[in-house]
Amino acid sequence: MSRLSLLMDLTSQLGREIDLDAFLKAACERLAEALRADRASIWLVDAEHGDLVTRVAVLPEMDLLRQPIDRGLAGYVARTGEVVRVDDAATDERFDPTADRATGYQTRSMLVAPIRESPQEPVRGVVQALNHADGPFDEEDEEFVAVLAAHLGRALGLTTLRAAEPGGPGLTLRGPFNHIVGRSTAMEPVYSRIVLAAQTDATVLLRGETGTGKGLLARAVHVNSTRQGGPFVTVDCTTLPAQLVESELFGHERGAFTGADRRVMGRVEHARGGTLFLDEIGELPAEIQGKLLRLLQDRAFERVGGRATLAADVRIICATHRDLETAVATGTFREDLYYRMRVVEIQVPPLRTRGSDEIEILARHFAEMYAARYGRPAPRFTTEALISLTAHTWPGNVRELEHWVESAVVLSPTGELRGDHLPRSAQPIADTQPLAASDDAGAGSIQLPLGLSLADVSRRYIEATVQRCDGNKTEAARQLSIGRNTILRTLATPTADDD
Ligand SMILES: Nc1ncnc2c1ncn2[C@@H]1O[C@H](COP(=O)(O)OP(=O)(O)OP(=O)(O)O)[C@@H](O)[C@H]1O
Ligand SMILES: [Mg+2]
Repeated sequence: MSRLSLLMDLTSQLGREIDLDAFLKAACERLAEALRADRASIWLVDAEHGDLVTRVAVLPEMDLLRQPIDRGLAGYVARTGEVVRVDDAATDERFDPTADRATGYQTRSMLVAPIRESPQEPVRGVVQALNHADGPFDEEDEEFVAVLAAHLGRALGLTTLRAAEPGGPGLTLRGPFNHIVGRSTAMEPVYSRIVLAAQTDATVLLRGETGTGKGLLARAVHVNSTRQGGPFVTVDCTTLPAQLVESELFGHERGAFTGADRRVMGRVEHARGGTLFLDEIGELPAEIQGKLLRLLQDRAFERVGGRATLAADVRIICATHRDLETAVATGTFREDLYYRMRVVEIQVPPLRTRGSDEIEILARHFAEMYAARYGRPAPRFTTEALISLTAHTWPGNVRELEHWVESAVVLSPTGELRGDHLPRSAQPIADTQPLAASDDAGAGSIQLPLGLSLADVSRRYIEATVQRCDGNKTEAARQLSIGRNTILRTLATPTADDD
């Protein structure tokens, strides 16, 4: 692969919901090839521990390496942000031979470049190439690695890897999918099933309430599969009139019906080599269910009005928010089709069961996204807004949250997202929670004067809860259904400068 096409190829991957590890691994492999290096590796700065970790298995003999940031050439580059070219590692005093000793590998020539979003940003990691096929690397190699490292920096900027604090060093290393936010335990089985399903061509059935992310997860299966280079074609079974579904899916021959003046390919054919996503499968008209069964079972179909049986080269993903079991029981959905579809069944949990941390993480994610889109200043949630957010039950799930945050960002030119930006339905705290004074204040209640701002009420309520939990903020966060970070922030804000 030429150096230019390597760069273009990596750039084209940046916008996708890529598996980050797979992306970095591919980048390393291609980099080694393009530079005629024996090996290439990527180290990232781990924000939690402040050291360097190999995100990509550098050496087949070792899984994961971790080293303090003050050690070795990788550490030197991570600290200084310089690009370093070394012809003979053994004579360079910055070189740390520990890894070589452990693995028996002998490092001779090296090229190491810093990964960061821009020269003003902190270094997020380093990319290094080891042992040029014949002797040292040259100046051109050095320039190339610097450019590639800059691309990787921008790639990381697009992922859900984030520095623990904005502008701070390092990244919080976690998570398999870019563009999909949320690490709650409720979502773990979803992610692991998607990873497993993506490795095969098995049919996937995504189930879950409206707005839980089924469409997004269907794409994640596709972009993490070997079909990622092929098309991803969606058929929304609700928007198609019954008579049209068949020709939409399978296409038709010329003369198949009045007005069919030429042969038209269906979505199945359009999806060849890729993935066919049948959204709202529960709405599929009964007449078509048999034909779909055949497609799933034999990967075979006919165009409307055609006699030839065609082979379909597609992976099929279905999604529905319907209770299919009831549909089967009442006879509106074929039982054999139901069993065929659920080779890999993935139940996407509703947002309200994923915990308040997830709501907060998603809210911040959407706030940043829409602030960037609408040119608003960096968004900040007030504590009381966060409390309202996490108290809401989100019947419309992630989509409802996304819409709320989008509208709050638009309505707040200063970037401060307050409770009164919430839609009415998401303002439960003032209406439903009797925070205000009660005369019989005992261990289980507190007295609050009327006339306080909602922010102040929240703060005092949080303080009192933390006190009742003997200062255990994690327990208080649990009782209040808010993130521990919200508590920390609230307690850090001085009471006097209330708005
Ligand atoms: N975990 C997530 N991280 C980031 N964005 C998400 C996540 N889950 C959902 N979204 C976003 O929320 C919106 C709704 O998601 P999506 O359309 O995939 O839901 P759905 O389950 O297909 O809903 P429906 O059943 O109504 O079709 C989309 O804009 C999607 O990008
Ligand atoms: Mg959908």
